[in-house]
Amino acid sequence: MRSVYVNGKWVPEQEAEISVFDRGFLFADAVYEVAAVIGGKLIDYPGHATRLGRSLHELGMAMPVSEHEMLDLHREAIRRNEVVEGLVYLQVTRGAADRDFLIDPASKPGLVMFTQEKQVTANPKVEIGLKVKCVPDLRWARRDIKTVQLLYSSLMKTEAAREGLDDVLLVEDGVVTEASSANLHIVDADGTIVTPPLSRALLPGITRGSVLSIARDNAMPVREDTVSTAALASAREVFITSATSFVMPVVEIDGRSVGEGVPGPITRRMRELYIAKSMATAT
Ligand code: PDD
Repeated sequence: MRSVYVNGKWVPEQEAEISVFDRGFLFADAVYEVAAVIGGKLIDYPGHATRLGRSLHELGMAMPVSEHEMLDLHREAIRRNEVVEGLVYLQVTRGAADRDFLIDPASKPGLVMFTQEKQVTANPKVEIGLKVKCVPDLRWARRDIKTVQLLYSSLMKTEAAREGLDDVLLVEDGVVTEASSANLHIVDADGTIVTPPLSRALLPGITRGSVLSIARDNAMPVREDTVSTAALASAREVFITSATSFVMPVVEIDGRSVGEGVPGPITRRMRELYIAKSMATAT
C-alpha cells in the first residue's frame, strides 16, 4: 500500500481524500508534474520544478510550498514508498470552493503527491518501437501549460490502443504538434534532428529540452522547426520523448514503416546518451 501526500499529510492511499468541490475535479483547474525516478533518485528535477512554477504563474495560482519543501516532499515520497524505479506525480489544484465559473482569489491551493513503480529504463518497447497514427489535435489552445485537462489525449490514446497501436501524433494545420503525452522529434534526410519549436501548441517538455542540449553537446545536427505531415512521412527516424518514456522510437505511422521499420541509430544513441546524462545528474 502506498503512502500518498494530501494537503500536508502522508496517508495510506485508501484514506486519501479530496473534496468534491475541488476545482481540479470540477473544472480541471489544476496543474501537474511527473518526474522519473532511477535508482531512487529524481531525473531532470530542476526542469520539472521550474516548469511547475511557470504553469502556476500562467493560471495565477500560488506555489503551495517553498522550492526547498517541494524537493524534500519528492524525496520523502520516494523514501516512504521505497521507489527504486518509477515516477513521482504531483498535482497542485486551485482548491475547494462552491461551484462557480468565477475563480475566488482567496481559494487555497492544494497539493497531492504519489509515486508509481514503473520500469523506465528497461522498457520492452525500446527494441520494438511504437506504432502510431495521426489524428487532429483538438485539445485546447494553451497546451504549453501542464494542466490536468488531458481528456482528448486520453480518448485518442485509448482509441489507438483499440486498433492495436501504441499512441497518436496530433496534427494541426498540416503540422505535427506532439504525441498524446510526449514531444515529437524526427531525423530528416540529412540526418538532422528536427523538433517543433516551443509555442502555445505544445508542452515545453523537460526531456525535449535535455535531448536538444545533449544533441548540441555531442555535435549532432539539430533544428527547432515545424514538422509537416509530409516531413513526417519522409523522415528517416521518428522518436518521442517524455519523463516516463525517455526517448522512444516510432517505427510505424498510419500503417507505413518509418525508415526500415526498426528503431534507428540516432534514436538509439540519443536514448543511451539521455539515460547516461540523467543518471549522472540525478537529484
Ligand atoms: N507527460 N507533451 C505532453 C502533452 C505531455 O503530457 C508530456 C509529458 C510531454 C513530455 O514532457 P516531459 O518531457 O516534461 O515529460 C509532452 C507526462 C509524462 C504525463 O502526463 O504522464
